[in-house]
Amino acid sequence: MNEQLNLLEQAKSVLETNDQGSFTIPADGPYPHQWLWDSCFIAIGQRHYDVSRAQTEILHLLTGQWHNGMMPNIVMSPGYKRDHNIWRSWTNPNAPDYVDTTGITQPPMLAEAVLRIGQKLSLPERRTWYKTVFSALVQYHEWLHTDRDPHQEGLALLLHPWESGLDNTPPWMSELKTHQMPVWIRVIDKLGLDWLINLFRRDTHFLPASQRMSTVDALSLFSTQRRLRRKQYDTAKILDHSLFAIEDLNFNCILIRADEILLDIAKTIRQEVPEDLLNQMKKTVLALESLWDPYSNQYYSRNFTTHKLIKEPSVATLMPLYAGCITKERAGLLVKHLENHHIFGPAYPVPTVPINSVWFKELGYWQGPTWVNMNWLIIDGLKRNGFKDHAQALTESTLEMVAKGGFREYFSPIDGTPAGAHNFSWTAALTIDLLQKN
Ligand code: GLC
Repeated sequence: MNEQLNLLEQAKSVLETNDQGSFTIPADGPYPHQWLWDSCFIAIGQRHYDVSRAQTEILHLLTGQWHNGMMPNIVMSPGYKRDHNIWRSWTNPNAPDYVDTTGITQPPMLAEAVLRIGQKLSLPERRTWYKTVFSALVQYHEWLHTDRDPHQEGLALLLHPWESGLDNTPPWMSELKTHQMPVWIRVIDKLGLDWLINLFRRDTHFLPASQRMSTVDALSLFSTQRRLRRKQYDTAKILDHSLFAIEDLNFNCILIRADEILLDIAKTIRQEVPEDLLNQMKKTVLALESLWDPYSNQYYSRNFTTHKLIKEPSVATLMPLYAGCITKERAGLLVKHLENHHIFGPAYPVPTVPINSVWFKELGYWQGPTWVNMNWLIIDGLKRNGFKDHAQALTESTLEMVAKGGFREYFSPIDGTPAGAHNFSWTAALTIDLLQKN
């Protein structure tokens, strides 16, 4: 009991250290801005001890919302001229007028954060809170279901690995190598010049290179960002002549859950959700099933243009549990992968890549390590699909890993060795949340 209290107090102090007043940075050093899904997870922790601070976190995110409804993955801290120039998002007329943001998005955790904050308020306060954010949320979901689903097939597409939140995860890196790797990066790779480029990276300035993505992968991500910038972050222009767009499994599972939550919120405040949006939401639920592969009993991401499934398993494999709309039978098949020690069930699950995959690297960023945010989502999904014991076991191993290793960015799934950034905000915030439920 005392140990848990201690962990709780330490977690709060991590969030206080990273608190910038009206938003929280993910970690000092490599992450100096406000990130979209980070702040949603952060607010989910903050609501337990300061609900009004949690509301502020979300309202600050909303200052970055674009005129077309997009929520950018980063709202920049003032004074970062270099990042401002890297992005140049003002070239798109939809960018907000007074706030600097990037021109891409991240998984739509916003509705979940809004709802979880609402749970901590009295009914009249909750209604006021929901009314404050409702039209922004509707606009955001309309953007997700239209701009990012141009053929109206039901699945939202992503244009950059950073949008997935799982930057160098195998489905994205394999597609990138097939469709988007410029010749000059291949040459750098061949000539072994990546050490030179490494000198200019922000993350490896703060963290050991062995725990980050390779320099060649990082370069490819930056070169993809430059392509989006040249096209002024205009989805139609970007899709022209490019095969690099993915209907990402993790993202669409979060979207399906977020849609359902948005409907709950609307009901609480007796508001209508526009008819078109309602129809699009239903389509997404149905479209998820087109990502199922009966041969390996799992879902995959899909290439937007070719419609080919990208058969690279990753932690996203388990995310349809969080989406909450799959059959009992399929949920059971997914849980089998989690139970298997050679796949997603080592000592400290859930690895971002199955242990038996050729991609697996114990501390390789999104190619192996266990992340607390993914565990939190999977725990929630397990509970809602009736796997209470599995949820409990995963909660316990996650808390043990954090108690042993500290509030780090990610951990070895084999022995819990901590890695990446120190004092990482979502690790702290979600620890607070997981402790409550214990
Ligand atoms: C990295 C992660 C991303 C996260 C960001 C800030 O880019 O891949 O998911 O949001 O860092 O923590």
